Amino acid sequence: MKKIRYNDDLLGEIRQRNDIVDVIGEVVKLKRSGANYFGLCPFHNEKTGSFCVNKERQTYHCFGCGAGGNVITFVMDYENFSFPEAVEHLAKKVGIELPEYEETEEEKRGRTFKEQVLECLKTCAVYYYKRLYSPEGRLGLEYLRKRGLTDETIRSFGLGFSGRGYTDAVDHLKKKGFSDEIIDAAGLCNITEKYGMSDRFFNRVMFPIMDVNNKVIGFGGRVMGDGEPKYLNSPETVVFDKSHNMYGMNVARRSRKPYRIVCEGYMDVISMHQAGYTEAVASLGTAFTPGHASLLKRYTKEVRLTYDSDEAGMKAAARAVPICNSAGLVTRVIDLEPYKDPDEFIKGLGAEEFDKRISEAENSFFYMLRYFEKDHDMSDPEGRTAFLKRAAAYIADIDDEMARENYISATASKYAVKEEVLRRSVAGAMERAEIRQEAESRSYFQEGAGRRSSDKADSGSDKAERYLLTWMCDDERIFEAVKPYISPDDFKDDLTRRIAGKIFEGYEKENLNVADIITGFAGEDKAGEAMAIIDAHMDVSQSDDERSQALTDLVIKVKKAALDRMRTEDNGMDPLKKSLEEKKALAGLKNIRISV
Ligand code: UTP
Ligand code: MN
Repeated sequence: MKKIRYNDDLLGEIRQRNDIVDVIGEVVKLKRSGANYFGLCPFHNEKTGSFCVNKERQTYHCFGCGAGGNVITFVMDYENFSFPEAVEHLAKKVGIELPEYEETEEEKRGRTFKEQVLECLKTCAVYYYKRLYSPEGRLGLEYLRKRGLTDETIRSFGLGFSGRGYTDAVDHLKKKGFSDEIIDAAGLCNITEKYGMSDRFFNRVMFPIMDVNNKVIGFGGRVMGDGEPKYLNSPETVVFDKSHNMYGMNVARRSRKPYRIVCEGYMDVISMHQAGYTEAVASLGTAFTPGHASLLKRYTKEVRLTYDSDEAGMKAAARAVPICNSAGLVTRVIDLEPYKDPDEFIKGLGAEEFDKRISEAENSFFYMLRYFEKDHDMSDPEGRTAFLKRAAAYIADIDDEMARENYISATASKYAVKEEVLRRSVAGAMERAEIRQEAESRSYFQEGAGRRSSDKADSGSDKAERYLLTWMCDDERIFEAVKPYISPDDFKDDLTRRIAGKIFEGYEKENLNVADIITGFAGEDKAGEAMAIIDAHMDVSQSDDERSQALTDLVIKVKKAALDRMRTEDNGMDPLKKSLEEKKALAGLKNIRISV
């Protein structure tokens, strides 16, 4: 079969026309700091911004979780796209026509595997749904009706029942032609030595989870009555990523409301939709993550949280607020007192009353202050001071100056403190935050990518290789200075050798581009690793002498390690000659003097 691959020039053009700061900036709130932009990493849950985008290089790198790459790999990871899908998406964005692309056999296999998993999940959802209305499902159906759900609601959410047998679903899926491997990859079975393959879900009311394209990607299953766990959920699979999907979003995405309601549970979403609030969504059996915030951000500018009114719910809301704010979402919190959750509230007081609560939803800022208040004795001056300092630190986090001013005034009047005093306290907190951020990014650049890789046993030469490659990427003069001594073969493993090869090739062709180096590793899932290798910045002083010395040391270290490897390799050379060559090479090392 003929394969037409996108050529490097085309890939380079697509990449260059999609500025990484713009593309990532659409979904992650970025703050400029020197040559870099920082934000909350969309690939792991964090409170401090470890995610760094480099505009000049057109790359990103998270020094918290190690994710990294260029604009193409970002879209691949963020949207869960394959390499060609990501390229297509970016090309379309800037109006570039693409020639026909034919998948490689491997890509085709990966795609059909995912498709089969999705097909298997869909088949299983239909099975559960039919079962709910069969005699075996009677108890499940009674349970759902008792909770006030209409047949229409049950149908539109595709609710079902998993049955009492231990292998019913697995048997059904096998009969439909799905292999053990696919059923397992879909997260629908348990496999033990003793019992073999058995159903993951049994005797539960089933809630299929759909992505925004209405594809079933997993399930939540609720016990009827009491039992542990109350909800059993699908594990994460090739198609189910909990922190980038929300329950109900397939419907809520189309809502015309200017906000989305975020609640805690499956049942909350369903009873809200049934009552007409089709803008409701929930995170899936996990805490709210930046991934959820970015998903919401695609469809709305504002969220209103209706978390349970108990201790745990308030805590969860207080966690979600800053995540929403960092994503640039206006955030409000709906008060449900005296009810526990929206489901109970609507049953108790009706939709009209709920409408009122939605429109009266409290600005998340004041919600947070009230939340902080609980930790302090507000009748004691000491307690009030501690509280106000915390409030000041919270205000200091607000980026927009005007908004910050407004919150200073509002807080000062609400808590009867002089505006001037509060303003100074906020300024102090901002200064401290800046120093902290600077120290963090400095230690990042000092350790470079080492922070993550240092978990692994990391020999000195590995580190030297990374520093050297990074430095060569950054500065052509460095490359020219080391070129007489080093060749790509001197690097230790396949990945570093290939990167070195690309750097040499790039400079020879006079178009070295760090982001394009990464493209070569995107299709094989190695972008993060490659990025870590060429984003290992060493903290060297500005003096030329010291830089020359540091560079010389690096080159010698890498070269010596290469010689050591050569010595232990049997290359069929006459031993005496070999040892002579080695002596010569080692002696040569002493003469390396690089000046920059
Ligand atoms: P809740 O216990 O509030 O669930 O947990 P709920 O949806 O309101 O359920 P009902 O009304 O009691 O039937 C909130 C969410 O937390 C996750 C589920 O996503 C649930 O909807 N959860 C809860 C689990 O994943 N596992 C559990 O055991 C409990
Ligand atoms: Mn609940």
